[in-house]
Amino acid sequence: MYICLCNAITERDVRECARRGCCTFDELSSELGVGTCCGRCRPVASEILRESQSPLRPAA
Ligand code: FES
Repeated sequence: MYICLCNAITERDVRECARRGCCTFDELSSELGVGTCCGRCRPVASEILRESQSPLRPAA
């Protein structure tokens, strides 16, 4: 599912970036470009990043 329409970034892209060690929204934004245009995706991208870092996250 696309979470950032401006930059065509998917939830999967964010989870993959987190898996590779991305820890903050700034790192995520720098790596993928998420949130660099209108910014509407920022809350969702941050939430997915947080979920991806949780030890209790559901299996993918
Ligand atoms: Fe992500 Fe616009 S939807 S910057």
